[in-house]
Amino acid sequence: NGETATNGIAVAAPPAVQIASREVTVLYGSETGTGQRLAEEAIGKLEGKNLKVKIAALDDFKTKDLKKVEDLLIISATHGEGEPPDNAISFYEFLHSRKAPKLTDVRFSVLSLGDQSYEFFCQTGKDFDKRLEELGGERLYPRVDCDLDFDEPAEEWIEGVLGVLNEAQESESSLAVQEAAGTILEERQVYTRTNPYMAEILDNLNLSGRGSNKENRHLELSLEGSNLVFEPGDSLGILPQNNPELVDQLIKEMKWNPDETVQVNKQGEIRSLREALLSNFEITRLTKPLLEQAAVLFDNEALHVLVQPGQEEARKVYIDGRDLLDLVKDYPPKSIAPSEFIQILRKIPARLYSIASSYKANPDEVQLTIGTVRYHAHGRDRAGVCTEQIAERIEPGELMPVYVHPNPNFKFPFDTETPVIMIGPGTGVAPYRSYLEELEEEDIKVKTWLFFGDQHFETDFLYQTEWQNWLNEGVLTKMDVAFSRDTAEKVYVQHRMLEKSKEVYQWLNEGAHVYVCGDEKHMATDVHATLTAILEQEGGFSHEEAEAYLGEMRKQKRYQRDVY
Ligand code: 2AM
Repeated sequence: NGETATNGIAVAAPPAVQIASREVTVLYGSETGTGQRLAEEAIGKLEGKNLKVKIAALDDFKTKDLKKVEDLLIISATHGEGEPPDNAISFYEFLHSRKAPKLTDVRFSVLSLGDQSYEFFCQTGKDFDKRLEELGGERLYPRVDCDLDFDEPAEEWIEGVLGVLNEAQESESSLAVQEAAGTILEERQVYTRTNPYMAEILDNLNLSGRGSNKENRHLELSLEGSNLVFEPGDSLGILPQNNPELVDQLIKEMKWNPDETVQVNKQGEIRSLREALLSNFEITRLTKPLLEQAAVLFDNEALHVLVQPGQEEARKVYIDGRDLLDLVKDYPPKSIAPSEFIQILRKIPARLYSIASSYKANPDEVQLTIGTVRYHAHGRDRAGVCTEQIAERIEPGELMPVYVHPNPNFKFPFDTETPVIMIGPGTGVAPYRSYLEELEEEDIKVKTWLFFGDQHFETDFLYQTEWQNWLNEGVLTKMDVAFSRDTAEKVYVQHRMLEKSKEVYQWLNEGAHVYVCGDEKHMATDVHATLTAILEQEGGFSHEEAEAYLGEMRKQKRYQRDVY
């Protein structure tokens, strides 16, 4: 009847009629799992508002259902040189093909994830946004492009989208549901990028033998008391510190006082300038937006010229391999207060490393395999921020800020029916050590085949005795190795695969999962081409059919990659 009497006072009850609500479809494209996590958080909030929701990876979504979609939210990362992530490729291709339907009844919004230091920043999200409009969709909220530090802009996007959806959908019970959803989210993971766990270093060894061209390190960190858990395939995020020498040189060059205090985040945390430049800000990479802001701040004529339209090529060449110290030396700024300067810097990004140990076998620790990055460029010796810190400045007993980064796109089977082919030259072998250690611990027999490669047998055979033990125990069924610089002719993992093409094909026919971890640009591309060649040679497929076969494997999560 619409009215309820309480203590004699008439109170209006909410209308009994439900507003016919539109369904919100959230689709994500995610390489390392961030897009998926943000999509799940969005779903939690949408459900909190009593909206009907649906969630899927872009490639798991049936494209024939696209016509039926009402409100569409796409959250997508960008991969490599502006390409869609693995689990978004087929949807992306469909949407950009002639087969894509008119979407005149669809309202949409896009959240894109990316990294400003790449030329094709957030390209996949931009492409989706543009294409959905071309197909007749109505943009319900503007696209937001996130840099590495995505938490705040992503939150703003979700809130903005919710605001628009809410105008049509106000419900009484929403508050209670929202609170319940909030609690679930909080319980999930205690330590994050913004709230890392301080893990004690237990061991820090150089795995590479004397005379090796490489310095691959084995790092063990304590997780005791952290409640952090992980599965084979997951990564550990580390928040590194910049090289103190570089920080001091920068401070000197700018004639700053290292002890001057600055505010390092929106929460108002205060630190000394030196501390801030060591731990809070990125100083080793230049990006286009940084250069544009620096041009204004520095008041330097030549830098103004470099950021003009038409100077793209010159700017790209300049940015490549240079850091903030180069910038202030090459384009001397007028005197700038540190508090003003740090406004234009990005937060220091966390580095992700594939975990090399099993939680079930060693619940109180986490182990990593880390290749030290060193190179010479533009007249100076340079290094990877995190890898150099570990190689040069981290001793057992010290603490490093870490968090677990689950990777839903690199998950291994634990049933005895599914064979597993693992390809991981160099430090790309790390996740397979985690998987085999877990199989051993759980006493699960899986048919497994490892392809490992590196430069020299003598100095670079990472974890050699462990693979041999697992082979003896039957945890590892087969292993093929390719040492590229021990012979006149280079041999790589894919050459070994091709030599065993019959058997590889047979494993594929038995439903094997294929994993590729390590270098993306050369190794993963060549391994992919080799898998295609094997399918053509042994299965009699045409090239297109072989590609389609691998595409289908990808969709079924039988072909998974963790490449960088
Ligand atoms: P190389 O350095 O001798 O060329 C791990 O780094 C191993 O991967 C090394 O043996 C390296 O060989 C090899 N590698 C380099 N390029 C590769 C590619 N395109 N495919 C597979 N392995 C490659």
